[in-house]
Amino acid sequence: MSTIEIDVALGARSYPIRIGAGLLDDASSWRASLRGRHVLIVTDEHVAPLYLDRVRAGLASHAHDALVLPAGEAAKTLASAGHIFDALAKLGANRDGAIIALGGGVIGDLAGFAAACWMRGIDFVQMPTTLLAMVDSSVGGKTGVNIAAGKNLVGAFHQPRAVFIDTATLATLPKREYAAGLAEVVKYGAIGDADFFAWLEANADALNAHDDDALAEAIGFSCRYKAGVVARDEREQGERALLNFGHTFGHAFEAECGYGELLHGEAVAIGMVLAAKLSAELNRAPAADAERLAHLLSRFGLPVAPSRADADALLARMRLDKKNVSGRLRLILWRGIGRAEIVPEIDEAAVRSVLATV
Ligand SMILES: NC(=O)c1ccc[n+]([C@@H]2O[C@H](COP(=O)([O-])OP(=O)(O)OC[C@H]3O[C@@H](n4cnc5c(N)ncnc54)[C@H](O)[C@@H]3O)[C@@H](O)[C@H]2O)c1
Repeated sequence: MSTIEIDVALGARSYPIRIGAGLLDDASSWRASLRGRHVLIVTDEHVAPLYLDRVRAGLASHAHDALVLPAGEAAKTLASAGHIFDALAKLGANRDGAIIALGGGVIGDLAGFAAACWMRGIDFVQMPTTLLAMVDSSVGGKTGVNIAAGKNLVGAFHQPRAVFIDTATLATLPKREYAAGLAEVVKYGAIGDADFFAWLEANADALNAHDDDALAEAIGFSCRYKAGVVARDEREQGERALLNFGHTFGHAFEAECGYGELLHGEAVAIGMVLAAKLSAELNRAPAADAERLAHLLSRFGLPVAPSRADADALLARMRLDKKNVSGRLRLILWRGIGRAEIVPEIDEAAVRSVLATV
């Protein structure tokens, strides 16, 4: 099996990301990263019947157990974290315990958060099974849960010990979830690498067909890109904020449509196109680049315009964004493909005029 290995360089907390088809079945490649004697696998009800046995088989020599949670965002709660703590206690895990997060971003964020809390921090290993988790959420150590007041409001920075990406698990991922993950792949090209963006344009058909080589290239590039940003700016004091390109608009649409109607990646696709159009409206970037971005996202089957856009309601939500300073809108925009930037003090009239065109 050919694998790609990428290092997330964080000094003593550095860790490897290993990418390969069939990795889950090759326990010799991942078991050594589990220093703990007690291992809890946390997964969800969709992933468990597909992949849990393979991970269990690789853990023969460890005391281990598995916790299977309901699938989806609704399970990313403090109550679910409580179930993980109970399962760790039942297993007899103390500071030598470790958690394997087997699933999408919901499981990764939740299990990582529980690992950050149990005995003030134990090891955890990411085994992402959605494209979004492979290229984004499993790398970088942002963990957390949702509360009634909002998404991801309670959390911790807690880096995994390792990330093992078995690209073969994508074969069972629903098509819409796969496309949502591609939105985040496009984002890396859009914010920081025009050559990779052009590569995506040239290889869109291969990616839509799940071509192994194209997938390995896209996932490898994305992980390398994110690992570099995280190594330079772990706590989002600067550059890491650029990864939120499209997210302020996207989060506002997600909330406005009601969570569940739009997948996160779909909302980000719409948000990126609006950020690109706003950049053109403000004369910061060519309008043709916004068209190129929309065209590429459409080829992946992603939406590029909202089904409705109530400017007052959306702006009210955008004003709540964490990135704003002193109540003025602060957005990630771009100078064109591959060149994102943080822009403070955005004129709301320009946002309204862009929203009026969709
Ligand atoms: N920590 C971060 O840096 C970061 C970054 C981006 C997103 N996130 C978070 O990630 C979450 C979204 O993650 P997601 O899109 O992976 O959603 P998800 O975890 O809900 O997974 C999507 C669906 O796919 C199913 N699934 C997973 N793997 C499968 C497979 N191989 N085959 C069949 N079905 C499979 C799941 O059961 C679920 O129903 C959000 O909570 C978001 O806040 C975190």
